[in-house]
Amino acid sequence: MSCRTPAQSKKSVTDLRATVDSGGKLVMVTAYDSPTAHIADAAGVDIILVGDSVGNVCLGFENTIPVTMAMMCHHLEAVMRAHPKAFLMADLPFLTYHLSVEDALKNAGRLIQSGAQAVKLEGGGENRTGVICALVDAGIPVMGHIGLTPQSMHSLGGHKVQGRGEAEATRLLKEAQLLEEAGCFSVLMECIPKELAARVTKTLNIFTIGIGAGKNCSGQVLVFHDILGINRGPFPKFVRKYMDGFNQMLTALSKWSNDVKKGTFPSDQESYSLTKAATKKLAAGSSKAD
Ligand code: KIV
Repeated sequence: MSCRTPAQSKKSVTDLRATVDSGGKLVMVTAYDSPTAHIADAAGVDIILVGDSVGNVCLGFENTIPVTMAMMCHHLEAVMRAHPKAFLMADLPFLTYHLSVEDALKNAGRLIQSGAQAVKLEGGGENRTGVICALVDAGIPVMGHIGLTPQSMHSLGGHKVQGRGEAEATRLLKEAQLLEEAGCFSVLMECIPKELAARVTKTLNIFTIGIGAGKNCSGQVLVFHDILGINRGPFPKFVRKYMDGFNQMLTALSKWSNDVKKGTFPSDQESYSLTKAATKKLAAGSSKAD
């Protein structure tokens, strides 16, 4: 007999691990509000990420750098209200884990208290391990993020493929190993050669998630609005669009706008009526006034 209560039917790190161990692939997608979380959950994704991509996807910024803790909590709480069964993660935004371990703990703690089950932070190497160890020690699961790390786009020279050359590939492999040693439960690899991602996945004991990292990762993630073609683009090479959301929404909205202008919206079916008695009284009232 299962001793699971409804609250426990929410996915955990253990469930994610079990999927990978049984040969399955993990599916992760971003969501930023209740409707997107409802759709992602109904599609049965394993992991929902409230990504700091909320900045460029939803809030009109050019990149993720202006995103603050307040914005992340606001969107995370909206996602939470959809009560997703998927494992729920949130990004630590730019400069919220760089200043001190205490600062990182406080900010990650805020995301966990707002309903995230884990946090993701960018960058590997020795300058991240102290912070990750402290978060893990506080009981906060951490996903690392290497390769193209958008919060460092100015030092990376833009959104470019990372780790193509031997030295850089070796450095990224080392970073992934350090993230595992520091206690990360998973590493996300963005925009790196597929051979390197396969090598990292084979080398690590923890599972990997890829975005623009080829198929040999433990799972894949994409941005919700990219899959559905809601943004206008340009889209990175690694995106596969499953619908032309922008144009489909535009067509629907234009039809409604035309109906309003033509006077065919709303119809009687889309309107409310008075009771018969009220109709009579009102008619009587208006004839008296005449
Ligand atoms: O914020 C984000 O969208 C990400 C992607 C790598 C999925 O971190």
